[in-house]
Amino acid sequence: MNSFDDYFKYNGENLTCEGTVLADIAEEYGTPLYCYTERGFRERYDEIDRELAGIEHLICYSIKSNSNINILKIMCGMGAGMDVVSGGEIYRARAAGVPPERIVYAGVGKTGAEIAYALDTGVHMLNCESFPEIDAIHTIAAGKKKVADIAIRVNPDVDANTHHYITTGKKENKFGISIETLLEHREFFGSRSGVNLRGIHCHIGSQISEVRPFIDALDRVIALIGELKKSGFAGIDTVNLGGGFGIRYGDEDFFPMKEWAAEVTRRLRSLGMRLIIEPGRYLCGNNGVLLVKVLYKKRSGEKTFLITDGAMNDLIRPSLYGAFQNCFNCRQRNGVETVDVVGPVCESGDFFAKDRDISISEEGDYLAVMSAGAYGMSMASRYNSRPLPAEVLVRPDGSRRLIRTRESYDELIHNERDAINFV
Ligand SMILES: Cc1ncc(COP(=O)(O)O)c(C=O)c1O
Repeated sequence: MNSFDDYFKYNGENLTCEGTVLADIAEEYGTPLYCYTERGFRERYDEIDRELAGIEHLICYSIKSNSNINILKIMCGMGAGMDVVSGGEIYRARAAGVPPERIVYAGVGKTGAEIAYALDTGVHMLNCESFPEIDAIHTIAAGKKKVADIAIRVNPDVDANTHHYITTGKKENKFGISIETLLEHREFFGSRSGVNLRGIHCHIGSQISEVRPFIDALDRVIALIGELKKSGFAGIDTVNLGGGFGIRYGDEDFFPMKEWAAEVTRRLRSLGMRLIIEPGRYLCGNNGVLLVKVLYKKRSGEKTFLITDGAMNDLIRPSLYGAFQNCFNCRQRNGVETVDVVGPVCESGDFFAKDRDISISEEGDYLAVMSAGAYGMSMASRYNSRPLPAEVLVRPDGSRRLIRTRESYDELIHNERDAINFV
């Protein structure tokens, strides 16, 4: 299972995580508060690792989805590598003790300083998205008398059948190099001794529910590798298929991981290729909830609003993508009512749910915004000068650890300098 029902469930009237009452956690640490189940991270990683047992593989957790250092430590301890997209993420991964040879570095706009940092760190591979970028890596690596192992991110032009904001493998998207362009320019690598083409990478989008788009992309990548090998690129030994596996936010089907892994294994084993994948959402999305408190219940015309102390700055997915997140009352009452669950930020787009039937809720109740473990805290901002929320990890025995303290007002303005002379 990869659904929150497994980790967050009602025990009588109380919504619990590993037997611990969520309303008690909210009371202890305050709200808004992210609350995660450790078991979920371990079980999701184990599942993928088990299904891929038939081929050499490295599961690189995409840390942009949830980058708390404690989560990274758990994943690293399981054997995961990390998919990073910035100097800051390299720093985080290293701070969590991730060995550099398990780090792959992606991103369409790496700066010179970030490339140098990646090379000094000794990351395993850089995923490249354009010829000018490869040139920059070559120049910086050659200047350091190094050779950087790279993978080229190709844009396989497949439709991942997901929200257009999170489709990344279509021709019109900014990501990767088209297969035709790469083949046309294959001689480009001949004079770039600072880079060693070791892999082909693609990532076609996020929250993908079907196996087909992945396999369509993989088949195109395999055909491309065949062409490149014919042209003398004998050193290509890695396919990186990115991330993108969908989870259940509502009533979606479970992602057919077994079927996906069987299809991928069958294709790559016969070619003797190793596999890297970069799942983010799948490893953490259903492992977290955002706990918020109902401040006011407001009736306006036909509508009832539950105004909470959590807002779009804490969890932006509903505002940004119109994404669906279930909202449950942490202490269920009899009866249901139709409400909008909104935050205090000065934007009409500041909502978690609209016209949603949820258990009757009153001022002072705690609500859980479900499936908030991925692209929740990692996308949080301080908009409206709202301090970043705290995070708590619930261990399999029900005990909990504060893994990030709530930001203070002092921290909120910490980097601002008093540089204006008012006299
Ligand atoms: C290159 C790359 N790899 C992996 C991921 C992780 O995707 P997901 O969280 O859908 O698994 C992303 C997400 O944006 C990405 O851009």
